[in-house]
Amino acid sequence: MSYRILDGRRVAETRLQRLRQELERWSGAEGHRRPFLAVILVGDHPASASYVRAKRRAAAEVGIDSETIHLPLDISEEELLGHIHRLNADAAVDGILVQLPLPEHINPDRVIAALDPAKDVDGFHPINVGRLVLGQPGFRPCTPAGIVELLRAYDIELSGRRVVILGRSHIVGLPLANLLLQRGMDATVTVCHSRTPNLAEITRTAEVLVVAIGRPRFVTAEMVCPGAVVIDVGINRLSDPTHPRGYVLVGDVDFEAVAPRTSAITPVPGGVGPMTIAMLLENTLHAAQRLYYPSAQLSNQPATTKAPLASAAAPSP
Ligand code: GUN
Repeated sequence: MSYRILDGRRVAETRLQRLRQELERWSGAEGHRRPFLAVILVGDHPASASYVRAKRRAAAEVGIDSETIHLPLDISEEELLGHIHRLNADAAVDGILVQLPLPEHINPDRVIAALDPAKDVDGFHPINVGRLVLGQPGFRPCTPAGIVELLRAYDIELSGRRVVILGRSHIVGLPLANLLLQRGMDATVTVCHSRTPNLAEITRTAEVLVVAIGRPRFVTAEMVCPGAVVIDVGINRLSDPTHPRGYVLVGDVDFEAVAPRTSAITPVPGGVGPMTIAMLLENTLHAAQRLYYPSAQLSNQPATTKAPLASAAAPSP
């Protein structure tokens, strides 16, 4: 069977070009400046460091300023929260991203909940998650949004389709399921995870199979229905001494075996990853534009003139 490669690099590049023009217009308008993204990176995890570099490089290319706040692996949770409070209150910062995963001793839920939801360009804050679930405007998590936009770019219909998601993470599986269930998206969604029995039986029912399970080449040909669309979210480093870098990147899908069975499939790298970055930068412009929190008294807006104190306003007796 012939299959299409869903080229996330190309689709993301087109979106980034459009974003660059939009940013030029927006940042050039009176009273505006270039958006600013603060990225918090804890420790030296090589994959996380490389994602952060890719995000900042793409930001610079479209006209978004950014800074990495690189913190030591043994930083305390309180110190990390202190950085977030400072960035929340900084009028020069539009978006804040905390690169995950965090070290074991730090509770990611506490850290994410400390973000100003109006600066939460990853869409991970409980308020943004709640807005997603309820179909209200808010920041959408970048990888799920990127998957939806990639499918849209290739005119792959989701309405009424059976979608199976492998993985229930807060970054991909869970928000993607909610996004696809929205009115207007109208997919029929099944979420599987590591404790789902008879996994292959379920994945074979998928017209669209999204794999975000974090295990290299986990999905094999027998798990895929002929003609399915397969979205591979995994990026795994497999050590390979013959490669100059010492490793190769592989997805959660055994691409060579699975691709010929599909009608369309994403490559790794060059599939979902670039779309995630494009969505992050679109979210950062939206944060600067106060698109989802127009009436909130944001911590990065100048305080409104305070009403005079009653005693000062009252006429003297
Ligand atoms: N780690 C893996 N994916 C992501 C992401 O989309 N955002 C953040 N902040 N961390 C991640």
